[in-house]
Amino acid sequence: MRSSSSSSSPSFPPGTSSPPLLASVHEKLHRLSAAGTVAWDAVQFRPLRKSERKELELLHKEWFPVEYGKQFYDEVFESKRLGSMAVLLGEQQILLGATTFRTKFPEPRYDMDSVLQGGIDACMSGAAGYILTLGVVEGARGRGLAQALLRKTIEAIQAQLPQLKAIWVHVISYNHPAISLYERMGLQLVRRFPRFYNFHDQVWDSFLYVLYEKGGRPPENLALELLKEEAASTSEVSPASPDSPDSPTELPGPPDEKDLDVALQQLKYCEREHAYLQQMLGYDDVMFREEPRGTGSKHLVEPSLLLRCTDVVR
Ligand SMILES: CC(C)(COP(=O)(O)OP(=O)(O)OC[C@H]1O[C@@H](n2cnc3c(N)ncnc32)[C@H](O)[C@@H]1OP(=O)(O)O)[C@@H](O)C(=O)NCCC(=O)NCCS
Repeated sequence: MRSSSSSSSPSFPPGTSSPPLLASVHEKLHRLSAAGTVAWDAVQFRPLRKSERKELELLHKEWFPVEYGKQFYDEVFESKRLGSMAVLLGEQQILLGATTFRTKFPEPRYDMDSVLQGGIDACMSGAAGYILTLGVVEGARGRGLAQALLRKTIEAIQAQLPQLKAIWVHVISYNHPAISLYERMGLQLVRRFPRFYNFHDQVWDSFLYVLYEKGGRPPENLALELLKEEAASTSEVSPASPDSPDSPTELPGPPDEKDLDVALQQLKYCEREHAYLQQMLGYDDVMFREEPRGTGSKHLVEPSLLLRCTDVVR
């Protein structure tokens, strides 16, 4: 991929223009593939080095619609308060992908209450790690590199936190490749944060995904808190303006595959939320029992469930 091309990162909202590919890796990969000498099986993993700061800054511009400031890069490359893992190609050590993560938290974060049983206290005392960024360069995607990089990142976090019970990450609701990666790697969808991201003059929801280990699990009171938040946010929602996409004058077109994927994610979130409530209330609802093994997907649900889930989330 040449530097004149533009990014096709799934982090950018569908249908919006994305930035040019300015990192040096693209030219290097182009030369190697023209010579037929790209050895994809000869990759190495290690933390990022100071000399890779500029390249990571350029790659983050290609990968993410949100800006990471000087303080973030200082924490990765100078103070090393943020950990990192990189995947590199061959002797030239071409940077193909990288993650950044936090294992020590200077102060509590707003989302810690949703991550792990024990909430802020558990997260602050070394039971949880947080992945801030993850990306693989264009031209190297679809080869399992993100999966391998995430595995190495998990190992690095485990090595720093012997009491680790949870690793969490946020993903924007339309980023199907990242959602698919996290689910393949065993992360669980724990909740949705409405209006989490704000860019391109729009707000977007985030999904919170968590990898649990050593008996780690989501907070018990999460479902109730979510219902309270949803109820509060419903009363804040203003009616759609006449020319907004929600306008009742225009019938929506048929959903595309991405819409269905997002709907499926939201449905899974609803199912989990409902299961918590059932547990808390000691209530058994036959409609919400999973299909017996071998009878099909566990997400195959009756239409009435869809309606009721929608009611819960609204
Ligand atoms: C999301 C992202 C990291 C995925 O990177 P990737 O290297 O393409 O991911 P992988 O190769 O591990 O997996 C991608 C697909 O390739 C497939 N794959 C894995 N190994 C493969 C191999 N050896 N050969 C061919 N395909 C392979 C996977 O099964 C997966 O397919 P699926 O999701 O349809 O099941 C990448 O798109 C990216 O960097 N995006 C921009 C930044 C971003 O969105 N980050 C996430 C922020 S939350």
